This record gives sequence, structure tokens and C-alpha cells, in this order.
Amino acid sequence: MRSKTRWIVAAVVLVGSSMWGCNKGDNATAPPVAKTAFVPDADAGAMLYKSGCLTCHGSAGQGMLHQGPDLRRDPFISKMSDSDLIEFLRKGRPAKDPTNHSGIAMPAGGTIPGFGEDKQSDTETLADVVLFLRNMQAKVKQQDDLKAAAHHSPTTQTLTSASTQPVDAPVTAPLKQ
Ligand code: HEC
Repeated sequence: MRSKTRWIVAAVVLVGSSMWGCNKGDNATAPPVAKTAFVPDADAGAMLYKSGCLTCHGSAGQGMLHQGPDLRRDPFISKMSDSDLIEFLRKGRPAKDPTNHSGIAMPAGGTIPGFGEDKQSDTETLADVVLFLRNMQAKVKQQDDLKAAAHHSPTTQTLTSASTQPVDAPVTAPLKQ
């Protein structure tokens, strides 16, 4: 894996330098800018969620009655690869689709402004959204795990019950006759 990555890096550098070579001396053309791989942006994803998904799925992904389902622990999301999720969001799920659960349509690209104008930019937009969904699910899972640990751990229970005792309680209460 590691060496494969090195090869890709080497190939990009080679292609980049040969392009540079071709353009040498040509003042009319701007020097080639190395095409960097797109890296999804969590902040952009959060903004896009607000404009494109929140009205139906809720501000915290909790779902809205008769609009969009709860996405916070949705295995449909967690089990799907990033690229499959991008393709799902690109197409949405029409009301008549045999996989539709509710008879309500999930619109292609949600309500993201300008969606559908350019395939490459849609892909990048949806990659930001997918990163947002992954982070949202990770945060919820972390909270669930903490709650479960607090509930099951005997140490925490002891600490909790001890802390609810009055501070000035006698260490050994006198036996009631
Ligand atoms: C106009 C309302 C609406 C908007 C906007 C919307 N959705 Fe949905 N979404 C739905 C509905 C309704 C469903 C459920 C369709 C069904 O019943 O199968 C759904 C389903 C989904 C599912 C599949 C859930 C599952 O378990 O099957 C995902 C994932 C999802 N939406 C993500 C998003 C994201 C991300 C956005 C923003 C880019 C978004 N949705 C915008 C209405 C919406």
C-alpha cells in the first residue's frame, strides 16, 4: 500500500514536470498548476448539510416527522462506502423507487443550491456532505458509548451513589433500636 502510494506520488511529479517542460518558453501559457487530489472539507460539509439536508433530516440529523428519517445511527450510511453514498445522494430516492420506505421522495442532491449543474463539482460537494455525515455518526457513537460505559461500569455507579450521600453523614450510623 505504502509503496503504491509512493509510485502514485512519483507519477504525479513526473507528469507535472514533463508538463512544465512542454510549456517552457511559452510565455502566453500560465505555468501548470499541479492538480491536487480533492480533500473533503468538514466545515463546507456542515454548511452544505444546513442548506441541503437540514429541513428534512433535522439540525442534528435526528429526522423530521413525515420528512426525512433519523440519520444519526443509520446503518444505511455507516455500512456504505463513501463513493456509494455519493452516488446515492446524487440520485436521491424517488417516491416510487421500490427501495423507498415512506412514499416520500429523497430529492437528488437534497436541496443544495446549484446542485446538478456540474458533475465534478457535485461529486466534491457530496464528498463534503459525506464527511459531515461520517463525523456526525462518529460523534453520536462516541456519546452512545460513553453513556453505555457510565451505565454499566460499577466504578461509575459507586462514585455516583457516593457523591449523592450527604457530606456530613456519619461514617457508621448508630444502630436503630
Ligand atoms: C425534501 C426532503 C429531503 C431533503 C432536503 C433531504 N432528504 Fe434525505 N431523505 C428524505 C426522505 C423522505 C428519505 C426517506 C426515503 C424513503 O422513505 O425511503 C430520505 C432518505 C435519506 C437517506 C437514506 C436513509 C435510509 O436509511 O434509507 C440518506 C442517507 C439521506 N436521506 C441523506 C440526505 C442528505 C445527506 C441530504 C442533504 C444533501 C438529504 N438527505 C436531503 C428527504 C430529504
